[in-house]
Amino acid sequence: MNPSRRVLVVGSGGREHALAWKLARDGAEVLVAPGNAGTAAVGENIALAATDIAGLVALARERQVDLTVVGPEAPLVAGIVDAFTAAGLRVFGPTAKAAQIEGSKLFCKQILHRGDVPTAMFREFRSPARAREYLEAREDMPVVVKADGLAAGKGVFVCDDRAAALEAVATLGGDPQFAAAASGILIEERLDGIEVSVMAITDGRTIVTLPPLQDHKAAHDGDQGPNTGGMGAYCPAPFVDDELLAEIESRILVPTVHAMRRAKVPFQGVLFGGLMLTAQGPKVLEFNARFGDPECEALMARLDSSLLELLDATADRRLDEVEPPRWRAGASVTVVMAAEGYPGAVEKGRPIRGLEAAAGVEGVHVFHAATRAAEAGIVTDGGRVLAVTATAPTLARAKLQAYTGVKEIRWPGAWCRKDIADKGLHRERELAADAAEEPA
Ligand code: AMP
Ligand code: GLY
Repeated sequence: MNPSRRVLVVGSGGREHALAWKLARDGAEVLVAPGNAGTAAVGENIALAATDIAGLVALARERQVDLTVVGPEAPLVAGIVDAFTAAGLRVFGPTAKAAQIEGSKLFCKQILHRGDVPTAMFREFRSPARAREYLEAREDMPVVVKADGLAAGKGVFVCDDRAAALEAVATLGGDPQFAAAASGILIEERLDGIEVSVMAITDGRTIVTLPPLQDHKAAHDGDQGPNTGGMGAYCPAPFVDDELLAEIESRILVPTVHAMRRAKVPFQGVLFGGLMLTAQGPKVLEFNARFGDPECEALMARLDSSLLELLDATADRRLDEVEPPRWRAGASVTVVMAAEGYPGAVEKGRPIRGLEAAAGVEGVHVFHAATRAAEAGIVTDGGRVLAVTATAPTLARAKLQAYTGVKEIRWPGAWCRKDIADKGLHRERELAADAAEEPA
């Protein structure tokens, strides 16, 4: 324990609650800006927006914060790490330039090309008209249309055919909300396979690969409905065995980190690969420059060794000196409970009941994603409200415990996906059947 350490976590979601919770367990005194009702229980909330970089620098100085951990992408892309570093403050996360691996899909593709990292083939267009000409001239096939810049998860269109792709280009070209993001348009080959999330902590030279997870991006069961920030996750994902994880590390993560260093944009922080496991092997769909959410909640629940030590060593560029992290045996499952209307507009301020009963379920931690303390108690404050997380010796048990926790919690309009981890359970059954058939 190290009670003298003061750490600032920037952000207000389930990811930041999980990080703050773990850092507090590691013995740090935690400040969270702006935080939520959950983070207030493990640290001190400070009413500053995650994007108020000048305010956060002043806070870190005033309160003598010795490490700042940045959760979301927006402040990273806006240069929070550069500002902290210039002020002589220690910070975990990539510079604005390095965060372009997430902020610009084109920059990401250039790095992948330099590192010879497998990814979907693509073409880049500087105007919707050019993209349209290209689609009309080539054969009709499934493609993915993407806006170059950050578009809060809404700039990607997975299209079955030319007509759908033309519509996507028209949407990007015509909608003012994409004006900045769509100054470049990418048209990619559509990849088929299983999607997994693999994250690594890196100081720009050494990398520590974390256990594989699977997210559930579609709003409804069976991967139906609109894309969301993520409705649930589980860890580890049985699609990625040790051998495949080693291949992902050596063919994807290490060459990406090296390519960034060679391009003079060294990456420090969490490099988060959204990968497709295709018949030709794992390929990169996208890179993010931060922990995934809800992946982070499922990961933190399983992390037995110190997170603080890992983040410290990363910020000091001495990740090669720390022991590899230790993970609790078994599995974890995170189920996101969302407000009515999500991923569209939602009403806020609904009182949440049953949080204590849920936290009393064996193996369950309720991470808050969008909550606030009000006179009525803890109330909803956004679309993804809670990330109910359970750890257990098996994936099946972790799923059962997580949903047992979910059942205790109520507010008007609350909903969640009912099938989080089912693909993993199905895969486990397939693997068991294969093993049973193998000759002794
Ligand atoms: P991105 O924001 O680039 O991760 O894209 C969001 C989602 O779109 C991903 O999680 C995938 O489900 C899907 N996607 C993106 N690129 C491709 C691709 N080349 N082939 C198939 N699906 C894709
Ligand atoms: N769960 C996916 C993300 O954080 O982008």
